[in-house]
Amino acid sequence: MVKVFAPGVIKLFGEHAVVYGKPALAATIDRGIYVECEKEDKLIVETVGVPSSLRYFPAEKRAEALGSERFFAYIDTALRVAEEQWGSVRARFTIKSDLPPGIGAATSAAVSVGILKAYSLCAGVDVDAYSLAKLGHRVELEVQGIASPMDTAATSIGGVLKIWANPFRLEKLNVRLPPFYIAVLPRIGTTREIVAEVKAFLGRRRSAANIIEAIGGLVEEAHACLLAGDLECLGELMYMNNWLLGALGVVDGRVVTLLEMARPFIYGGKVSGAGRGGVVLLLPREGAMVERVLSSLGHVYHRVSITETGAAAV
Ligand code: MEV
Repeated sequence: MVKVFAPGVIKLFGEHAVVYGKPALAATIDRGIYVECEKEDKLIVETVGVPSSLRYFPAEKRAEALGSERFFAYIDTALRVAEEQWGSVRARFTIKSDLPPGIGAATSAAVSVGILKAYSLCAGVDVDAYSLAKLGHRVELEVQGIASPMDTAATSIGGVLKIWANPFRLEKLNVRLPPFYIAVLPRIGTTREIVAEVKAFLGRRRSAANIIEAIGGLVEEAHACLLAGDLECLGELMYMNNWLLGALGVVDGRVVTLLEMARPFIYGGKVSGAGRGGVVLLLPREGAMVERVLSSLGHVYHRVSITETGAAAV
């Protein structure tokens, strides 16, 4: 039996601007997607603990898993791309997630990449991280229509990464970071919708291009602070990045309230990913107090560590 872990991804700096040619800084975390592959005489996919609601039609003895259509679209496409690459494999694939889907932590990229990696190993091939990143991006493009290569590259390669989307380029940074907290807020809109709205806004308001430029400049400064291990600087830039994302229209009052309440106990914080809820990233000064704030606000949260490796057998 093969078991693969594909890590989730936090966006440290630069999301949205990455779509317009600026670099972004992202990192893999110790939570993500597990995919097992066990050879059998037919192809079966099982999911464990991936939330979905069921609608049951008793007369037809038929059930539908609501909200899972896209999840299955990633699975279908990843299996088809894998079969094209490595031939037919008949196996039971079991997918487990320790992050909720659709929160902006790259779970869809991790599902696609995790299946591709597990499939290749089951077929007796150990696909390298860069080929995996390319194939994973192909799956995301087919399912979503638009997607930057940031999430699939990060979950394939792992570590703290500086990524340019177009043309694609990647630099792995040799830095150490302390654990972060991620709060998970209910998401209003999908990544695809939010990215499209930001694009429309930039088209309408000429001066909004300055926001993208400012985020690009901030990413370069954050790169230097990461290399220096300067948490005060990183925290300050996280706040700045959050306000700039607010200017793009993707930060709402829930995030502002959370950051205000946590302010005495964190270096900084920001939305991580497309925004409108989803993951809010907090760099803690006092972890216990951050947990108290998150609990008192009733948020689901996780303490996450940054990891070094991308999707790999475990
Ligand atoms: C989403 O996680 C990050 C965005 O920059 C979109 C993308 O890079 O594809 C908002």
